[in-house]
Amino acid sequence: MKIITVIGSGLIGRSWAMVFASGGYSVKLYDNQPGQAANAITAIKKQMMELQEVGMLRGQLSATQQLALLSSHDNLQQALQGAFFVQECVFEDLEVKQNVFRDVERLVGEDVILSSSTSCLVPSAVFSLVQNRSRCLVSHPVNPPLYVKLVELVPHPDTVAAIMNRTHSLMNEVGQVPVRLRKEIDGFALNRVQAAIIAESWRLVQDGIISVQDIDLVMSEGLGVRYAFIGPMETMHLNAPEGLGDYMKRYGEGIQRVLRSFGPVTDFFAEDAKSVVSEMCELIPNDERHLSARQERRDRLLMGLAQLKKDS
Ligand SMILES: NC(=O)c1ccc[n+]([C@@H]2O[C@H](COP(=O)([O-])OP(=O)(O)OC[C@H]3O[C@@H](n4cnc5c(N)ncnc54)[C@H](O)[C@@H]3O)[C@@H](O)[C@H]2O)c1
Repeated sequence: MKIITVIGSGLIGRSWAMVFASGGYSVKLYDNQPGQAANAITAIKKQMMELQEVGMLRGQLSATQQLALLSSHDNLQQALQGAFFVQECVFEDLEVKQNVFRDVERLVGEDVILSSSTSCLVPSAVFSLVQNRSRCLVSHPVNPPLYVKLVELVPHPDTVAAIMNRTHSLMNEVGQVPVRLRKEIDGFALNRVQAAIIAESWRLVQDGIISVQDIDLVMSEGLGVRYAFIGPMETMHLNAPEGLGDYMKRYGEGIQRVLRSFGPVTDFFAEDAKSVVSEMCELIPNDERHLSARQERRDRLLMGLAQLKKDS
């Protein structure tokens, strides 16, 4: 039997459990808060039924078949029994993660793959209390992983190629889209690119160049539309008669000139940064009702986009 243990049953742990079950894996969901993993399975059941109803359930199995693959555990040792892969999804707290992996290593065999969902911590920090780090890596998902399929695979300096390859195959098999980083770096790839976009968007609003509403349209109706299907490298390659080299000959100097005008790191905490926040809150008030309505809208749209990408 192919067993995966998911540690931590919050937002991301639940999503991983659904993704792995959709690929036919038995998933043992563990949380150190008694009853939490069982509650998570109740929530997963509701979500799977809803997805099945609208024809968006992932994988070849029915919701009932996928649910039969899930079990909840309040005991770590039991949860790890038989697993070949462990996906950790606990709080984003270095010490908590280090201790979880130290405990897990004591309870599993040498060949079990230890994978962390961390967004911001590098593998050399997360796995510092693990003895055998050749089987450790970060598998960083994007929220919500059910509709946004990218997973960044980030090796520890000691991780062997076979572990990266096996995890890459596993992610493909369960319908995610894995990418490999060749070595660890702060922010991995996705959050580094995201930081650049956030910084410049914020600066343009703070400097009074453009409104919050319009900079969001620059992404959602401009760059983001093509980036949903082709990335920045292919975009450039297709935008000059002789491809990327030709594109840089034509536009490279202009891009460098703009880059040199960027200035120092954006100060998100400056006095005039407050106006950026209040402008956003005027558009979408930051109370529970408005935010959850927009979150539901976002997830509905992402579901539609996931379907479109599947069909194309
Ligand atoms: N939320 C996101 O958008 C997102 C995206 C990508 C990656 N991540 C990463 O995924 C991880 C989990 O994030 P989340 O949003 O699901 O958090 P969350 O707070 O929703 O869930 C964390 C769960 O871990 C449990 N937990 C805490 N300590 C534990 C321990 N020692 N043993 C077992 N369970 C424990 C908690 O009880 C809780 O149920 C974090 O590392 C986060 O950075 C989050």
